[in-house]
Amino acid sequence: MSEFERIANGGGKLYPYNGIWPKIADDCFIAPGARIIGDVVIGAGSSIWFNCVLRGDVGKIRIGKNTNIQDGSVIHVDSGGFDTTLGDNVLVGHMVMIHGSTIEDYGFVGLNATTMDGSYIEKNGMLAAGSLLSPGKRIGTQELWMGRPARFSKNIDDEMKTKLEKVPKGYSILAQEYLKEHS
Ligand SMILES: CC(C)(COP(=O)(O)OP(=O)(O)OC[C@H]1O[C@@H](n2cnc3c(N)ncnc32)[C@H](O)[C@@H]1OP(=O)(O)O)[C@@H](O)C(=O)NCCC(=O)NCCS
Repeated sequence: MSEFERIANGGGKLYPYNGIWPKIADDCFIAPGARIIGDVVIGAGSSIWFNCVLRGDVGKIRIGKNTNIQDGSVIHVDSGGFDTTLGDNVLVGHMVMIHGSTIEDYGFVGLNATTMDGSYIEKNGMLAAGSLLSPGKRIGTQELWMGRPARFSKNIDDEMKTKLEKVPKGYSILAQEYLKEHS
């Protein structure tokens, strides 16, 4: 029987789809309970927390460096041509659903939010907790959107931007601490 699953650094599991295995940088933390399937590439220093599912089967998922996907989040793609691409230092809060979307560097998706096919968050853009970014909608650089469906709320000032940018760094450090205990 061919190999069915692999254990990632940290204890999460990797699975192939159509013979393609996820490619994960060596220092990523993939927490126990996380499952990563198929055409998924994750850059250095990123962390995938407990019980996340990242499924790159009918398209690809690309995740940059120092990005964190918090507990219970689901990332998928759409066979109609919507891959999912996350840049560097992106924060995806707990219980988020990202579906066929692009999020640039330092994008922030608040806990329990959803992004739908073709939606886009530009650099330092923020989707508030619990919000729903509808198909094809675009959050501009340093904009905060909120609500279901999400609407533009305000521009993020430089003070808040600096504060938000510190969170992914904190998560990278936390992930390295977990790695020491879980590998
Ligand atoms: C969006 C957020 C930053 C608050 O923004 P804010 O501009 O400071 O908002 P305020 O607290 O001043 O509230 C302003 C109004 O927006 C509403 N509001 C605040 N957050 C909201 C949200 N997530 N969704 C919808 N409405 C929201 C408030 O109820 C308030 O409404 P009111 O004027 O009718 O009373 C915060 O709600 C949020 O989403 N933080 C992200 C936390 C997170 O997900 N962390 C990830 C884990 S690390």
